[in-house]
Amino acid sequence: MPRDFLSARVRSVPPSGIRRFFDIIATMKDVISLGVGEPDFVTPAPILQAGVRSLQEGRTAYTSNSGLLELRQLLAEHLKRLYGVEYDPESELLITVGVSEALFISLIATVDPGDEVIIPEPCFVSYRPGVIFAGGTPVTVPTFFEDDFQLMADRVERAITPRTKGLLMGYPNNPTGAVMSRECLLEIARLAERYDLLVYSDEIYDRLVYGVEHTCFASLPGMRERTVLLGGFSKAYAMTGWRVGYVAAPAAIAREIRKVHQYAIMCAPTPSQWAAVEALRSGEPEAQRMRAEYDRRRQVIVRGLNAIGLTCFEPRGAFYAFPRIGCTGMSSEEFSERLLFEEKVAVVPGNAFGDCGMGFVRCCYATSMEQIEEALVRMGRFVEKYGK
Ligand SMILES: Cc1ncc(COP(=O)(O)O)c(C=O)c1O
Repeated sequence: MPRDFLSARVRSVPPSGIRRFFDIIATMKDVISLGVGEPDFVTPAPILQAGVRSLQEGRTAYTSNSGLLELRQLLAEHLKRLYGVEYDPESELLITVGVSEALFISLIATVDPGDEVIIPEPCFVSYRPGVIFAGGTPVTVPTFFEDDFQLMADRVERAITPRTKGLLMGYPNNPTGAVMSRECLLEIARLAERYDLLVYSDEIYDRLVYGVEHTCFASLPGMRERTVLLGGFSKAYAMTGWRVGYVAAPAAIAREIRKVHQYAIMCAPTPSQWAAVEALRSGEPEAQRMRAEYDRRRQVIVRGLNAIGLTCFEPRGAFYAFPRIGCTGMSSEEFSERLLFEEKVAVVPGNAFGDCGMGFVRCCYATSMEQIEEALVRMGRFVEKYGK
């Protein structure tokens, strides 16, 4: 018998709770999926064609490790225009294989064994594993329905120890749809300053906000020098399969992150980078059109969920609603499983995103209005049957 070759660190992380549901759904027919968190739109035609053209014109080689300079220059302009924050395209921007890669290489480059990284929950499923794979210790801080899922600085402060290296947060939030108010972010910024923390800010949903403004964490006073800004093209431009994201960070930090990227990845896919160039050049009207459509669906699903007794705070960002399911007396998993088998509607149990998500489910509304309306009918029937 060979000995156990597996890393204890990797083994300690369970497989994603979301995947199990998707595997079950894949075997079923006629399921309405409010499960997967990705746009239902196809990448807008000019962006798609730019990727295809790059291949047809033979641009099939590696790009520089940091990514196409043209893309980085456009990105620097984009960030300056939107948020007033300036990054040097040569030394402070790095194009990655989605925010997924950006997150992992940023953690590997900055976390030492024993370092603690504070993670507000509920949150994107990769944050905890990312910190553990990098050798660090995740320390979770809950956020609550009663606070509209805002991250409260006093809770973060109570979690800080001499070992705390940083804070990893994602707003607009997956799975709650919460957008942090500027005031709450300023309080987090004050903590970061006081305790000398690095802030990893995953802003992949920055363009998907409804009736409120997104505040880029790096744009807050004094924060640019202690922020690793993670962003990408997957959500706003319906480009999940292209795999393009970026890291923006002060040069000294970006240099080490680039080193990890250089050895592990070389560069993000070349045609995808050309597509991203086009997204920044001409993608804004399409991005706005999709955003307006998500907003319409958001209003319908939030109203609908509340009407059937699944209480839901008003999410102002991303494309998720996060209703309470307490009225059914079921756990998040039982609710999701029964709803799937009895009514063929797929949602994700809230505790897949952290323990404090228990009692909630995530409903992604990046699907057609007809599907949303039908899902609400089925969920209404389900709640009627089991509701107390
Ligand atoms: C909060 C958050 N961060 C990062 C990602 C990963 O995005 P990408 O496609 O850029 O790797 C997702 C995808 O669902 C997400 O929800």
